Amino acid sequence: MLLRVENLSVYYQKFPYLEDINFSIERGEIFSIVGESGSGKTLTGLSLINLLPPYFKSKGKIFFDNTNLLDLPEFKLRNIRGKRISMVFQDPSTSLNPVMKVCNQIAEMLIYHFNLSKKEALMKTMEILERLKISHVANSYPHQLSGGMKQRIMIGMAIACSPELIIADEPTTALDVTVQEEILDLLYYLTKNDKKSLLLISHDINIVSEYADRIMVMYAGRILEEGGMEEVYKNPLHPYTKALFKCIPSEGEKIEGIPGSIPNLKALPEGCIFHPRCEFKKPLCKKKIPSYVMVSQNHYVRCLLF
Ligand SMILES: Nc1ncnc2c1ncn2[C@@H]1O[C@H](COP(=O)(O)OP(=O)(O)OP(=O)(O)O)[C@@H](O)[C@H]1O
Ligand SMILES: [Mg+2]
Repeated sequence: MLLRVENLSVYYQKFPYLEDINFSIERGEIFSIVGESGSGKTLTGLSLINLLPPYFKSKGKIFFDNTNLLDLPEFKLRNIRGKRISMVFQDPSTSLNPVMKVCNQIAEMLIYHFNLSKKEALMKTMEILERLKISHVANSYPHQLSGGMKQRIMIGMAIACSPELIIADEPTTALDVTVQEEILDLLYYLTKNDKKSLLLISHDINIVSEYADRIMVMYAGRILEEGGMEEVYKNPLHPYTKALFKCIPSEGEKIEGIPGSIPNLKALPEGCIFHPRCEFKKPLCKKKIPSYVMVSQNHYVRCLLF
């Protein structure tokens, strides 16, 4: 097991913005977190490498290769962040340095983590860019590049140190459909080819279902369902998961959104947090918090219907 998150809760003031999050990622696995905007996907990703703003307080355990990251002092975490766990951030345009050539930005990571000379780091950078088939943009500045190209540079930075885990937070949201597929194919290839692990965060369950080995569905900072991708695809259990699958623009049909919106995290509904929007709710759902049950091996759900 490469990563194991145990009972992770993240508090903002006294409110648990993430509550009792448990999941693990094996080596070589693509694990996906999905959910609507505001469900806590980015908070989860950032908390793994302690990049949350200081006013968030984390509780629980995050074991990476058997070391609890939540116990590590910042100077030790710095040797892991970028080097053994890297993150492709949600917005590439704000994550790149606008006044630095992209090759130097990748080289800087290598100089910092591996103590390479500038010349060695630039040679390694060119190898990485060639692997991503974008060596022709090495001397460009970020503003000269398209969104898809910037995202490829971000991926170059993320894989530069050959990390064991890449966290990709909505890596394709800002891109058009064809580029989106190219970027996800690239991440898939890099992960599987090098036997690395990928945490793929997305709001689009239909897209990630083509790439993920396992999937976890989040809602308002809580896990509602988790399981093997094939299992969840064939047999989604939670009404929320089912609704997410229906948000697909298929030919000739209207996209069905999910009525209502995600609740205020400071005033969550009683009982099941999804009940106000649930089309299958029963009177009990308004009162009783469902526990997390195992429905079959490798498939869990938090819903009173099960
Ligand atoms: N820096 C912050 N300060 C205060 N609240 C925050 C901060 N970042 C996130 N939140 C809140 O935490 C909750 C979860 O946010 P998060 O960014 O994790 O959602 P998300 O699932 O990544 O959504 P999206 O799909 O829009 O990226 C939201 O209610 C959000 O408003
Ligand atoms: Mg996010």
